[in-house]
Amino acid sequence: MVGLMAPFTIELDFKRGVLHPCNNIIQRHLSDMRGTYLDEAATEEAIEGGDPLLYEVYQYDVPFENGQLLVVTSIIQPGKVGDEYYMTKGHFHEKEETAEVYVGLRGRGYLLLETRGGEFKALPVEPGTVTYIPPYWAHRMVNTGQEEFIFFGVYPADAGHNYGEIEVRGFSKVVVERDGQPTLVPNPKREER
Ligand SMILES: [Fe+2]
Repeated sequence: MVGLMAPFTIELDFKRGVLHPCNNIIQRHLSDMRGTYLDEAATEEAIEGGDPLLYEVYQYDVPFENGQLLVVTSIIQPGKVGDEYYMTKGHFHEKEETAEVYVGLRGRGYLLLETRGGEFKALPVEPGTVTYIPPYWAHRMVNTGQEEFIFFGVYPADAGHNYGEIEVRGFSKVVVERDGQPTLVPNPKREER
């Protein structure tokens, strides 16, 4: 049973992507994502060279209960590790039957989605794109542009995150730069198996 709580407003800064006030700010540096990018040598070199901040998440926490919603913005920096664009960790929801909505605010990139059955989708996202992530699809955002890629999301507060499987397997395709263009190529990690 959800308790009665007071309605509230918070401010979303469309330019910077931050929520204010915000009670849960997460920063992910490259060292938090070892093993995620294919090029391990480039990963270690970039960590030694200053461990870049890849993305930030501003989430306004409410009780993690069925019936509640979390609002969240993410800001992915532009850049690459090797030839692979900066991206979020990617996850299934722990409660896999929960959906999520992302809305592109600034910059551009791809939403990668995949089911456990191996069905894969890559949806382009730009300002104004509303994407619907149905239940059971793992999801990851990738910044393929030259500027910050900022998007807003809403999802059930009790959905939870399962990052571990994606950390190990990745998605069936990766987004890399080829001849100056973002290109989807098969994930070699998957082909090894
Ligand atoms: Fe999610």
